[in-house]
Amino acid sequence: MTHTHVAGSIHADAGSRAPGWLAVPDDVNALMPKLWSAGVGKDVDGVLTVAGLDVAEVAERVGTPAYVIDEADLRARARAFAEAFEGWNVYYAAKSFLCTAVARWVTEEGLGLDTCTGGELAVAQRAGVDMTKVGLHGNNKSLAELRQGLEAGVGRIIVDSFDEIGRLGHLAGELGLRPRVMVRVTTGVEAHTHEYISTAHEDQKFGFSIAGGAAAEALELCHLDPRLDLVGIHSHIGSQIFDAEGFEVAARRTLRLHADFAAAYGVEMPELDLGGGFGIAYTSQDTPASPAFLATALNRIVRAECAALGVAVPQLSIEPGRSISGPAGFALYTVGTVKRVQLDGGASRLYVAVDGGMSDNIRTALYAAEYSATLASRRSDAPPTLSRVVGKHCEGGDILVRDEFLPADIAPGDLVAVPAAGAYSRSMASNYNHVPRPPVVSVRDGEISTLVRRETLDDLLALDVG
Ligand SMILES: Cc1ncc(COP(=O)(O)O)c(C=O)c1O
Repeated sequence: MTHTHVAGSIHADAGSRAPGWLAVPDDVNALMPKLWSAGVGKDVDGVLTVAGLDVAEVAERVGTPAYVIDEADLRARARAFAEAFEGWNVYYAAKSFLCTAVARWVTEEGLGLDTCTGGELAVAQRAGVDMTKVGLHGNNKSLAELRQGLEAGVGRIIVDSFDEIGRLGHLAGELGLRPRVMVRVTTGVEAHTHEYISTAHEDQKFGFSIAGGAAAEALELCHLDPRLDLVGIHSHIGSQIFDAEGFEVAARRTLRLHADFAAAYGVEMPELDLGGGFGIAYTSQDTPASPAFLATALNRIVRAECAALGVAVPQLSIEPGRSISGPAGFALYTVGTVKRVQLDGGASRLYVAVDGGMSDNIRTALYAAEYSATLASRRSDAPPTLSRVVGKHCEGGDILVRDEFLPADIAPGDLVAVPAAGAYSRSMASNYNHVPRPPVVSVRDGEISTLVRRETLDDLLALDVG
């Protein structure tokens, strides 16, 4: 059956093809506040605004696609973690998004920086961040990266393999430095999230297993190596986690290891890191916990466990990334083509193709991440229709937003904004199909600044020396 009347498709869509969690909106122009930064709204004409600037102007000034960050919101999220986790050290996870401006903002708000490559470390160095507040992660750091971290004087190196412990000891001896070291462990916690962003179950590449005994062995090796200053255990259970239960189990297992170590060697390690992974809202389904709620829960758990084990509470730390940068940013696109595709059973779906795609946000293709979208350049009186926002790449899986209700009259030239694109979008972007990566701009008090400029074809061609 083919629908020629828009409303016919809409009714069929709503009845049969939208996922169960996606409700037909009463007002397709309305924003769901939890998805957006605090400075985002819509003006009387339905145009999306951020920190006093409308996105039509952003698009005119910097073009699309573009990532747009609400500076005040990102800073406020960083501050909220610092305040809620008073007495803890909060490290911003740079992998979620890093540039020199963001490195400065988060450190100005009292956070440290968690890096995991020489590249991220280089950005921190260029930003002039206090290196004692920088950590260096990574399951396969090269000798050059370890040397860079040591020479920069990072505050801690989180070791992740026996090979690395040997390498680091050797290098530290050669340089005459004694790095502060944490041992990354796997706690066996099954975080209820996608396999690729879950990092504490046993069958994966990160960390030393507590259950299998490798973690205790790694602690012993670091402790007995005079070239290394073992300061504690590090656990990160995964990402997009919404409850405290996973952290509770992880804290219990890491603290038991911490207490066993104290009993065996007569020293209590001074620190413990419980990682990041606090979930954010990408769609209506997600209900994130506030930093205050998380801090209360984690403080309660750690204090109770330490009391039960008879050990002092170590200096605690966490590493939130997306919960700081994610909701602070959105991606802005221009619609290029619109295609209604008939599905079986009389339903249809509107394919809205924009000028970006999987090269600027791989998460949907990579691990079936869900996103939302809104028509950003005008109000529409058209009814909502089930839509899929896709990109311009040569892949059927080039999907940005799998399921969303957009106005049925959405058309080429309209702007579309995708919220929660401040994290793991630009930082995971590629040049697939030789598409230059979009710029990152920030808006504050109605003023726009370019943080990372748009890549050009000349940038790409300059790499091709043949
Ligand atoms: C070791 C470590 N810490 C912190 C994070 C940050 O996670 P999120 O951005 O989900 O908070 C990650 C993410 O992969 C990680 O691997």
